[in-house]
Amino acid sequence: MVFDQKNIISISDFSKDDIEYILRLSEKMEPIARSKKQSNVLSGKILGMLFYEPSTRTRLSFEAAMKRLGGSTIGFAEANVISATKGENLTDTVKIVGEYSDAIVIRHNMEGTARFASSVVDVPVINAGDGAGQHPTQTLLDLYTMKRVLGKIDDLHVALVGDLKYGRTVHSLAYALAMFDVKMSFVSPPELKMPDGIVHDLNRVGVSIKETTDIHNVLDDSDVLYVTRIQKERFPDPEEYSKIKGAYMIDEKLLEDTELIVMHPLPRIDEISYDVDNTKYGRYFEQAFYGVPVRMALLKSIIDSFE
Ligand code: CP
Repeated sequence: MVFDQKNIISISDFSKDDIEYILRLSEKMEPIARSKKQSNVLSGKILGMLFYEPSTRTRLSFEAAMKRLGGSTIGFAEANVISATKGENLTDTVKIVGEYSDAIVIRHNMEGTARFASSVVDVPVINAGDGAGQHPTQTLLDLYTMKRVLGKIDDLHVALVGDLKYGRTVHSLAYALAMFDVKMSFVSPPELKMPDGIVHDLNRVGVSIKETTDIHNVLDDSDVLYVTRIQKERFPDPEEYSKIKGAYMIDEKLLEDTELIVMHPLPRIDEISYDVDNTKYGRYFEQAFYGVPVRMALLKSIIDSFE
């Protein structure tokens, strides 16, 4: 088997072969995710879910993925219901849940928390988003969406739009796309540019990147417009957020005469108009569904490999 990851912390922990293996397995999982076939391959297994930050898609699609494969979940969706409120530290919480589970999924507002968690437990740890760091499982479903909708990843031109500074989904996605033969454009206000360290890493591996503040500069020749929310909760100064919010608004008129698809990790605020939802451009709800088969593929691979 190509896939030999124990923990999923950063997309850079994966090889291109690992990614392609998961994408192939996700396709096999789709009929089970759609309830057209049954599986009990993870029967008796428990996934521990530690969500210190809010989530709809990631948490519920992990839960659906586990249950579709016959397994079950334990955990919490907000930190104020656990013994952290009595002063228990993160290490102890993670260790305890590690004793109760076969794998752990963790989301936290502090970058590096998932890697830290993986150092204190024996069971596999999956990063479900660590602050402005990474969101590797989102990236896998993003790549799967491109493959399913456009039939390929190689040779695409992907434009990442919005909050490239604080958006963890675009950080992971940029590194993953760099493993393929793609062209990337970064569209953001100057204050929310892709961090220099990431641009430097991408340049070092020879990726061609166009950076612009004007979305019109990428509409003609992009295949994918990957739009992100401005991450209000990560701004140290709320005034700065007020100045930048609403920087990009994608509506059906803007997309007229283009051949691209619009993706978004969601949640959206106002950056994609509702009139895009039912057009040939809007693929973000389909993208959110693909979180289930992709996370099924990951859970099966990780929990099986760890045994
Ligand atoms: N895409 C994503 O991470 O969504 P949630 O915050 O709802 O999990």
